[in-house]
Amino acid sequence: MNIRNQTATKLPFGPTHEIVATALENYIRESLSEPSDVLNQKTPEEIAKALMVKPIFEKGFENTTQLQEFITTYLQNTNHLKNPKYLGHQVAVPHDLSGIPEWIHGTINNPSSLYEMGPAGATLEGFMIHWMLRQLGWFKGKDLCDFSRITENGSGILTHGGSIANLTALSAARAAIAPEAWEEGSPKDLVVMGPSTSHYSIMRALSIMGMGKKAFVPVPVDENEVIVTDALEDVYKKTKEEGKRVMAVVANACATSTGLFDPLEEMASFCKKNQLWFHVDGAHGAVALLSERYKKLVQGIQQADSVIWDAHKMLRVPALCTAVLFKNQEQMWNSFHQKGSYVFHENEVIGMDSMPFTVECTKSALGTKLFWSFALEGESAMVKFIENSFQQALDLYAILNANQNFYCPYPPQSNILCFQYKPDQIDDQQQLALRYELINSGEFYITSCVIHDKRYLRTVLMNPLSSSEDYYTLVKAIEKCAAKLFNT
Ligand SMILES: Cc1ncc(COP(=O)(O)O)c(C=O)c1O
Repeated sequence: MNIRNQTATKLPFGPTHEIVATALENYIRESLSEPSDVLNQKTPEEIAKALMVKPIFEKGFENTTQLQEFITTYLQNTNHLKNPKYLGHQVAVPHDLSGIPEWIHGTINNPSSLYEMGPAGATLEGFMIHWMLRQLGWFKGKDLCDFSRITENGSGILTHGGSIANLTALSAARAAIAPEAWEEGSPKDLVVMGPSTSHYSIMRALSIMGMGKKAFVPVPVDENEVIVTDALEDVYKKTKEEGKRVMAVVANACATSTGLFDPLEEMASFCKKNQLWFHVDGAHGAVALLSERYKKLVQGIQQADSVIWDAHKMLRVPALCTAVLFKNQEQMWNSFHQKGSYVFHENEVIGMDSMPFTVECTKSALGTKLFWSFALEGESAMVKFIENSFQQALDLYAILNANQNFYCPYPPQSNILCFQYKPDQIDDQQQLALRYELINSGEFYITSCVIHDKRYLRTVLMNPLSSSEDYYTLVKAIEKCAAKLFNT
């Protein structure tokens, strides 16, 4: 075999990978050991110095020791999601071997948006989209590996994140009601209705689409920020009286702050009756579809016109990877009316290109990452993981609810739970101060949010190794922080 002289590769391939693998193994082991910090934040100046950013940038790694030190220092300065006391954002805690497809992709760089630029990745994307469509009842083929165009099938693509996915789905919704918008600009009378607690990416999408944030018509929510479906008719009537056309109705499945689900079935009936596009933002909670126990939470999702589903939240895929799914396949074809003659082929090519249907021109091998998440343990392990996460929130709820120092506004439906510490004594600023004290201690990582103008501490149970023991320790840690800060 004739191997070209590899002058560009200063470091030996074999040992380099061993160094990285060993550093990652140590990282995981340390994340699991007690005690260890979840997050130990330093300033960017300190981190840049410790990483020796400037000399390495200028000269490149000079030897394997330098590489080793760089990786170790880098890993020290991370948020340790693998630590069972990470109870923070809706970001997947991946399987220990989830990085392998990223490594492969980083070596071969086959973007999967054009089939011919990455046939294997595009095939896995097609397969995973079929699998997701099947969960929604939108795949009519007998075999997930049947890639022929079955007209009764829904359609979908993978894209880089829920925000882009919402933009994609809303773009398709606009094409359905105002096909001229792509050429002429957005008609001024179009609006989108949804719970006032819709994720900000919905409003952002409307602004990007030239409709303006004001094109979002909020529907009232209840005390736990779930949409009040009885209000839909009134809001719709008023909107029409103002001379507006409703382009889509959006539902939270589930809401970002609370993890509670809007009643999809009722919203779907309303949309059907009024012939309105129904979009379900299932970024976090669409996974409930996979569990017999929790599927009722998303009852009615099958009646949507479009659904988004983040795999980098609850399917254990490293960020980013989101599916945009359409019940009727033509609707996806309309999402971006644009022709790029060098990339958008007619019928002369094999396989499928996702490029015409995404914001991105080039995109990562997203299907491979998603497939890999299942390949490591199989489909039933994923279902177990989801059910376990939802159960973890119930376990934490039981512990907090039994403690008179804590207030939980609702029993959790998913794996997100908000609560306050002594709300009768501690104000909003102090709740926030408690969070910073806690995360700066390094012992836990939690988040915070506002529900109806009141500040809450917020946990998202993403780590399969977190247990009730950790939750009792969390209670003690918060009490300790409160005693230190407020003498209470
Ligand atoms: C309901 C909902 N929709 C959309 C998004 C945006 O997703 P991403 O962070 O992948 O852009 C989020 C993120 O938390 C979300 O919770």
